[in-house]
Amino acid sequence: MTVTVRPVTEAVGAEISGVDLRRSSDTDFAAIKRAWTEHSMILLRDQQLGEDDLLAFSRRFGELDPPPNQERGRISPPGYPDIYVVSNVLDEKGDPIGALGAGEAVWHTDMSYLDTPPDASMLYSLEIPESGGDTWFCGMQAACAALPAELHRRIEGRRIKHDGTYNSGGYLRKGVTPTDDPMAAPGAWHPAILRHPGNGRATLYLGRRRNSHVEGYSKHESDALLEELWAHATQARFVYQHVWKLGDLVMWDNRSTMHRRDPFDGAARRIMHRTQIKGTRKPVAFMA
Ligand code: SIN
Repeated sequence: MTVTVRPVTEAVGAEISGVDLRRSSDTDFAAIKRAWTEHSMILLRDQQLGEDDLLAFSRRFGELDPPPNQERGRISPPGYPDIYVVSNVLDEKGDPIGALGAGEAVWHTDMSYLDTPPDASMLYSLEIPESGGDTWFCGMQAACAALPAELHRRIEGRRIKHDGTYNSGGYLRKGVTPTDDPMAAPGAWHPAILRHPGNGRATLYLGRRRNSHVEGYSKHESDALLEELWAHATQARFVYQHVWKLGDLVMWDNRSTMHRRDPFDGAARRIMHRTQIKGTRKPVAFMA
């Protein structure tokens, strides 16, 4: 089989075909990694991955990060602590088997409340609803390159607070004290514009909106600036909408994308398995 790579939008994402991830060669893997570095998000359809296959493919990119602490802690399939379940399905006791329910998950990048966030995440579809639950990706390198000069000037050389209180579903993380004060919230400060270690490009790094703050500004000024930045970054021209099919494997770069998920019918079933590749270095500011 020949690996082919086809961009899905100009700003973000590429579909890769001609690979069975259960038995990809080193040459295939090199092509996959190049496409991920170049396009920030990759899609491989028609995969048939058991938990061990998903872990083996994920580990080719590096060490794995444990799942994020979500509303019910860290939920994994039995025996697979490095896999994180995203699902609205309930077990026989009526408890969710995964995180995020059936509601909207707002724009965010994964686990950027850590000083060294995961470089990448993968999501593999096991059960999907007939409609809804689409996942959207935003290309933060294209968004950065298109920043109006004035907006760029106001964040250049500054850091942004990334909140660790709430997840993208709006749920409080287990064991965390609720707060709406960015300064009191747990989390990490990262450069507003970082240098991508894989391709050297400037990347706008916003994390998540709630409890965010741009350093050096009052709360009022920071909120106004963040509204402008978020409105700019999430324009349709930077976004790809992924409509899931069974057996899709999607992998994204957490430094150069954000993602969000549409809500879906809570009576339908959606089960996804996710892994995350540990970051190897703290985000570094882009110097022009
Ligand atoms: C996530 O944010 O990792 C979940 C996205 C999704 O459920 O599509």
